[in-house]
Amino acid sequence: MNKKFFVTTPIYYINDVPHIGHAYATFAADILSRTHKVLGEKTFLLTGSDENSQKTVEAAAKKNLTPEKYSAEMAQNWQDTWKKLGIADGEFGFVRTTNPDHEKFVREVFQKIYDNGFIKQGTYKGLYCVGHEAFLRPEDLDSEGNCPDHKTKPQVLEEKNYFFKLSAFQDQIEKLLANPKFVAPEERRNEIVSFVKSGLEDISISRENAKWGIKVPFDETHRIYVWFDALLSYYSGTPKEFWEDGANLHIIGKDILRFHAVIWPAMLLAANLPLPQRIFAHGFFTIDGAKISKSLGNTIDPLKVADEYGIDALRYFLFKEIPFGSDGDFSFEKLREIYNADLANGLGNLISRVAKLAETLGLEANFIEKKPLLDSEFLVHLEDLKFQAALDYVWEKIRKADKQMEETKPWELVKTDPDKAKGVIENLIRQIHEIQELLIPFLPTTAEKISKQFSGKIKSAEALFPRK
Ligand code: MSP
Repeated sequence: MNKKFFVTTPIYYINDVPHIGHAYATFAADILSRTHKVLGEKTFLLTGSDENSQKTVEAAAKKNLTPEKYSAEMAQNWQDTWKKLGIADGEFGFVRTTNPDHEKFVREVFQKIYDNGFIKQGTYKGLYCVGHEAFLRPEDLDSEGNCPDHKTKPQVLEEKNYFFKLSAFQDQIEKLLANPKFVAPEERRNEIVSFVKSGLEDISISRENAKWGIKVPFDETHRIYVWFDALLSYYSGTPKEFWEDGANLHIIGKDILRFHAVIWPAMLLAANLPLPQRIFAHGFFTIDGAKISKSLGNTIDPLKVADEYGIDALRYFLFKEIPFGSDGDFSFEKLREIYNADLANGLGNLISRVAKLAETLGLEANFIEKKPLLDSEFLVHLEDLKFQAALDYVWEKIRKADKQMEETKPWELVKTDPDKAKGVIENLIRQIHEIQELLIPFLPTTAEKISKQFSGKIKSAEALFPRK
């Protein structure tokens, strides 16, 4: 039987359209799902929309829409964006937290955790930030009493809440975190380990008299906390067989690591559900050095970049420029620079020169027929989500082939010694084949174009990456 693998992105809030930071995690998930597919595994990629948030209610009101109507429109918008960006060739799972199946599952889990004795009632007084959908401590606020990230005053809430006994899972969570694979990168794991060491506190998981969200099954005056609901979408949105005997990986941003590495596994333990195996937290992007924010008006629409440069160029830039896991900066200037150097001049140039010479000599190849092989050094980088290292590995091969071409000068040999020229070009075609296979996870459209060009009689074709 085939091995199984699934990968998830966060389920995104839909109070706005996707920006480049969201595309980042989704492309990363796509790279991994394509890799596992090439390895012959049954793969599944899950993304989705986190709709039961107060943000939805506020955004809907601004557009004079009901939260239901607004959510449906936005969920469609996000889904369409991922399709246009070619995520999993359109074959991804998309979970909406307002799906009746998901809601039913969340209520069942809430009930189960209650029955297992891990939910209790209490009164909560605290400062709630809608931007974070979380309580803040007084010491988290800035000098004006605002949330430092959202620059808004938190709401002062005092209400009867249901609490999840997170503190009961202190030992089990510490044990989980002792596994170096559970949370990566290392730096993030250390951060979370020391947070957990400082002692886990019980958390409020319901809101009294809220108007939007999933109702507590045994007390309909309460709605379930949006993170409790959202974290369960990884389970409700994934076909059961993958949770039963598949490997899994969850890609998130570093800002939401506590929810994923602490609260989520504790909830699953409390409900007797299977645990996640690996969580990877990536870093944050700035745009030309500034924080991405709607109010600054500097959000970048990934579809616009893809229109101008191509999806593959955007993917290449994102994973080549910034080590996955670190923070980084997006700028069109750098994008253009890397595009011209590595794609137009590097990869594109090599392919077009070799194809032209092969065409002159009437050579044939059969890239399409062969099942791709990914070599082990490349796979180790991918296994560790070291995308930059994986790309460097491929570009080293491109440079090597280029160098060989410069040294052997086949364009001169074609005139003086066609047999020798043929040998040289055939050797370069073999190298291009290797390169093409390694490009499949990262630059799927380009890999496909090359494979078509090098199947049957080799043809010179339009430039893969026209110079910009
Ligand atoms: N809905 C929650 C996640 C629930 S998962 C069970 C959420 N949504 S979000 O839309 O606000 O953020 C989704 C992801 O986008 C997060 O992982 C976050 O880190 C990422 N990013 C948001 N801004 C970003 C950048 N500027 N750069 C990189 N990633 C960023 O949180």
